[in-house]
Amino acid sequence: MPALPALLALVAAALLALLGARRAAAPGAWSPLKRWALGCLLLCHGAWRQRAAAEGTAEPRRPRPLRPDPHALDSVYFTGFAETNKTFVVARLAKRPAGMCEMWLFLRVEGIGEFEHPQHPNMMVPDESEEIWSGGGLTIEYLEPQMCWKISFDGLLRKGPYRQQWSEEEGDLVPVKFSLHWENFTEVFNFNVDSHPSTFARAFAQEPWTIQFFQRVKKQREQHFRHEQWGQSVGEIEIDNREKIELSLKGVRSHSYGIRNWAEIYRYVMILAHFEDGTAAHLTVINIPATTTNLTVGYVFFPDGRKAGIEWSNASLAEMAEDGVIKDEYGVSFTAGGKDFAVSAVLDKQTCPVVFNGLVGSGVFHECIADFQLDGSTQGWGLVEFYYRDEAAQLVPNLQLGPKT
Ligand SMILES: *[C@@H]1O[C@H](CO)[C@@H](O)[C@H](O)[C@H]1NC(C)=O
Ligand SMILES: *[C@@H]1O[C@H](CO)[C@@H](O)[C@H](O)[C@H]1NC(C)=O
Ligand SMILES: *[C@@H]1O[C@H](CO)[C@@H](O)[C@H](O)[C@H]1NC(C)=O
Ligand SMILES: *[C@@H]1O[C@H](CO)[C@@H](O)[C@H](O)[C@H]1NC(C)=O
Repeated sequence: MPALPALLALVAAALLALLGARRAAAPGAWSPLKRWALGCLLLCHGAWRQRAAAEGTAEPRRPRPLRPDPHALDSVYFTGFAETNKTFVVARLAKRPAGMCEMWLFLRVEGIGEFEHPQHPNMMVPDESEEIWSGGGLTIEYLEPQMCWKISFDGLLRKGPYRQQWSEEEGDLVPVKFSLHWENFTEVFNFNVDSHPSTFARAFAQEPWTIQFFQRVKKQREQHFRHEQWGQSVGEIEIDNREKIELSLKGVRSHSYGIRNWAEIYRYVMILAHFEDGTAAHLTVINIPATTTNLTVGYVFFPDGRKAGIEWSNASLAEMAEDGVIKDEYGVSFTAGGKDFAVSAVLDKQTCPVVFNGLVGSGVFHECIADFQLDGSTQGWGLVEFYYRDEAAQLVPNLQLGPKT
């Protein structure tokens, strides 16, 4: 088995020598051959995947120690949608070096209004615990591996409308308390193991093949892991010391760790949706200039629990994420598990909160709540997340980085 990576390197180098020399003569002409060659390599590639699986399924209950790298992270992200009314919760905490956390918190409660963390659109807060994820009043605990989490908040939130700009004004701050118990209703989709090889083959085939390119791809693969699972959050929320409201929300939990340098990501669009027939889907189109400028990844959980990586999609980043433009509607087609899907999203432009990427100084995340339709008839709930690296984000004045002294 250990011989396999060496063999792969050899085959890649041979292909490289063969194709690299001709590339200048016939640009693009080799792409189908490259794709085919890579597809074979990736498919015959059980040992690598199994090794990744062994490494990747370990998801300890405590946040793992960050790697010694300025871009190390350990991020947990939750979405929950009521599906019978407009209530939703989006919460994220990502541990970063130097005692910092990226924190997102947005919610809406039917009949009461929308709320966001008063720090927003800033996302950097001090990390408040080594044992759990905690920052800005939000805490996330892993109770039982791959099954249960607890998400809670106790503090002030700012009443909407969501701010698109930084402002000194405090706004209308309201005491909010909630505690949600999350339980999975799907298995885990492990991006490093379960993704469909043909999406990578297609993306790699579009890039110039150099030794450095393969080294960067390999490094990226070994540095970043992502697990996703869908589930239900049940609990209570108390706003402005009024009566408690019961919540029962469905959504995704995403756990990503390793190393992520936001500066390497140019742009992405991510669709996360759960449908009334029980289907759950994730589709990301991403441009990472150093490796894959045009990669589509994602998966579907079928109503019977089966999971499948997305094999093909017509989604185009250039079309979906034009400079600074977020449209009202998007449509994508994709195939997974031998089935074709057509998904359309109608964005709620009033409910499209933003966070600025405090780590690199520029870059904006847009978290747009959307109504979905699957194959024109099945209703769905979720969001479309956009990341624009070069969108000018105003720097937040007096941003406190690192723990309070
Ligand atoms: C919940 O997750 C566990 C661990 O991955 C899995 O064994 C179980 O089947 C999942 N439950 C459902 C309903 O999918
Ligand atoms: C909205 O729907 C959810 C899920 O059915 C329910 O838990 C909640 O109590 C409803 N009302 C409000 C105000 O959220
Ligand atoms: C991106 O890749 C897809 C195939 O996966 C292709 O159809 C599309 O033309 C590519 N887009 C660009 C801008 O190269
Ligand atoms: C992809 O397919 C959907 C239909 O499902 C369509 O609405 C959309 O325009 C297509 N996108 C592109 C880039 O062709």
